[in-house]
Amino acid sequence: MPRTPTQTFVNKNLHSSACSNQWLEGRDEAYKAYRRNWHEYPKNRHLSEFPLHLDIDVTNLCNLRCTMCARTILNHENALPELGYMDFGLFTSLIDQGVPLGLASIKLNFLGEPLLHPRIVDMVAYAKQAGVIDVMFNTNAMLLTPSLSEALLRAGLDSIFFSVDSVVKETLERIRVGARLETVLENIHSFLEARKRLGRAEVQVGVNMVLMEENKDELDDFLAYWRPLVDRVNWSHDHHYIFRSAGASVDECARLEEFCCAQLWQRAIVCVDGECLPCCLDAKRELSVGNAKTTPVSELWTSSPMFERLRRLHSGGDYKAVPTCRRCVFTLADIPPYMRREVE
Ligand SMILES: C[S@@+](CC[C@H](N)C(=O)[O-])C[C@H]1O[C@@H](n2cnc3c(N)ncnc32)[C@H](O)[C@@H]1O
Ligand code: SF4
Repeated sequence: MPRTPTQTFVNKNLHSSACSNQWLEGRDEAYKAYRRNWHEYPKNRHLSEFPLHLDIDVTNLCNLRCTMCARTILNHENALPELGYMDFGLFTSLIDQGVPLGLASIKLNFLGEPLLHPRIVDMVAYAKQAGVIDVMFNTNAMLLTPSLSEALLRAGLDSIFFSVDSVVKETLERIRVGARLETVLENIHSFLEARKRLGRAEVQVGVNMVLMEENKDELDDFLAYWRPLVDRVNWSHDHHYIFRSAGASVDECARLEEFCCAQLWQRAIVCVDGECLPCCLDAKRELSVGNAKTTPVSELWTSSPMFERLRRLHSGGDYKAVPTCRRCVFTLADIPPYMRREVE
């Protein structure tokens, strides 16, 4: 009999500081029910008819070349799949399939910059009109003009996470190659002003920092700058740097004995060309479950052999049988010293 691990984890290395709950007070019961399911489904190993959440890579193009990004690394290795924009028809088909079966949330990015998609506002509007509860994306903010901010808010965007990494000009521009600090800050401030002007206090605004060698001493300054302004500051370590900083290769790092990835009962990723992945870190597509252009997502989710195998191994306490999971940053037994700190 496979034993059942008592705990599920999604990402023990993601830290988050809540700065304001104003946005949450404006969210309705449907949002709160969806968030309860988010925690309950993996805990109870409840397999829904459709993922609660889809990461939809509306484009794998990007205007920046951030040094730590999987996209940049794959690009250097000439290993990126064909670059382009997701067809609007594929996008609407994902929404139309998902909403009646419980799709509650979408994030419009995976390996690219969502604001590059010429129909990003239409995508937000379509998903909201179809009934998706939480429509969000991460962005580098470089292309977020005041009129685009306003259009996204009017279309119904629910959450936005700005990837900033530093408020020091030299650091940000060294990490986020192609970005300019003044433009990033100006665009974020103008989004915040538009949110206020349009009375959309329930829109969640977060700012993200990936901690790495270049900015690891800047967390306090980062928090001091952003906490009075936004709803949430998130920081995680650089998924790639951690292995170098531990002075060990990926395979040598100590791993958790027991790990059951919560994502397997929560979400799936649909790449720009329809390829469907079970893991938000699987940039190399090692765990592909099939293609959403040819197979309904509900079928991939509930009965693809890859999803079934992953769920069986993870809930049976045998995640290490999957090489990608054995090497995953979330299964590390320890984190670098600079991450081991508490913030009020
Ligand atoms: C790949 S980006 C795509 C969306 C958009 N272009 C952006 O930068 O927000 C999604 C998120 O991954 C984060 N990210 C990139 N490289 C990372 C790494 N090595 N470790 C952890 N997070 C990383 C980015 O900072 C961003 O918040
Ligand atoms: S902007 Fe986003 S997708 Fe583009 S290189 Fe930077 S982290 Fe990667």
